[in-house]
Amino acid sequence: MIKEQLIETTQYLIKRGFDQPEVGIVLGTGLGKLADELSNPIVAPYSQIPHFPLATVEFHSGKLIFGEIEGVKTVVMQGRFHLYEGYDFMHITYPIRVMHSLGIKKLLISNAAGSINLDLKKGTLMLIDDHINLQGGSPLAFKEVALLGERFVDMSQPYDPDLSAIMVDAAEKQGINLKKGVYASVIGPQLETRAEYRYLKMIGADAVGMSTVPEVIVANHLKLPVAAISVITDEGDPDNLKPVNVEDIIRVAEEAEPKMMRLFKQVIKSL
Ligand code: HPA
Repeated sequence: MIKEQLIETTQYLIKRGFDQPEVGIVLGTGLGKLADELSNPIVAPYSQIPHFPLATVEFHSGKLIFGEIEGVKTVVMQGRFHLYEGYDFMHITYPIRVMHSLGIKKLLISNAAGSINLDLKKGTLMLIDDHINLQGGSPLAFKEVALLGERFVDMSQPYDPDLSAIMVDAAEKQGINLKKGVYASVIGPQLETRAEYRYLKMIGADAVGMSTVPEVIVANHLKLPVAAISVITDEGDPDNLKPVNVEDIIRVAEEAEPKMMRLFKQVIKSL
C-alpha cells in the first residue's frame, strides 16, 4: 500500500511542478528561513499533499517547497514530523521517500540539538558523523519494507563521506567553525534529566535531539547520500543544569540560522 501511496503523492507533486529536484533539504526547528531563498518557488502546504501526515497545530505552517538554490533544483521541507507529535516511524519518514521518488540525488538535514560534549557551545554547528538511535524503534520495521529496498540495511557509514567532506570544505570557504560529533536521538518531547545527560555522555554522544535518525535510516535504505548538521541550542551540563525552554532553543537556532544557510548554499554550489 505504501508503494501506491508514494506514486500518488509523487504524481501530485509533479503535476504541481516539482520537476526533478537534485537536492532535498530538511529544515529543523528555528531553521526554516532557507526556504525563503529559493528562486521560482512552488509551495505545497503539507495539508494539501495526498498521504502526507496531517499537520498538527504546531506545524500548521509545514510546507514542501520546490525551487532553485544556486541554480540547482531543490526541494525543501519547511517543518518536519516528529515522533513526539504522535506520528509513527513510517509517517515521519514518508517525506524522505517522497523526495527520493521525485528524484533527489542528495539529502541535507538540519536540526536543533543540545550538547553533551560541553566543548560544543550554544550556536555551534556540528556535522553529524555518526548516530545512536535511542528512539526505541525503526522506520524499517514494517511488513512491506522489502518491497521498497533491503530489510537489513548496512549502517557502517550512515552519513555519506563525500557529502560530509563537501560540508567541511564549504564551512572552510565560508569561514564557519564546523565541529564533528555523534548525535543521539530520543523521542522527547521532554528534555533530558541530569542522569540522562550523564548517560548520554557515557555512551559516546556529543549532542542529543528528537529527530534526524529515522530520516537518515530511510535515506540509507534508499541508498540516498545524506549529510546532517546539528545547531547546538543548549548545553546539557549535568553538574550545572539550567532549566531550558523551547523558546530559548528556537531563539538560539534562529540566531545561528544565517550561518547554516550560508553553509547549505555553499554546499549546493559545490555539488
Ligand atoms: N535535548 C533534546 N532535544 C533537543 C535539545 C536537548 O537538549 N535541544 C534541542 N533539541
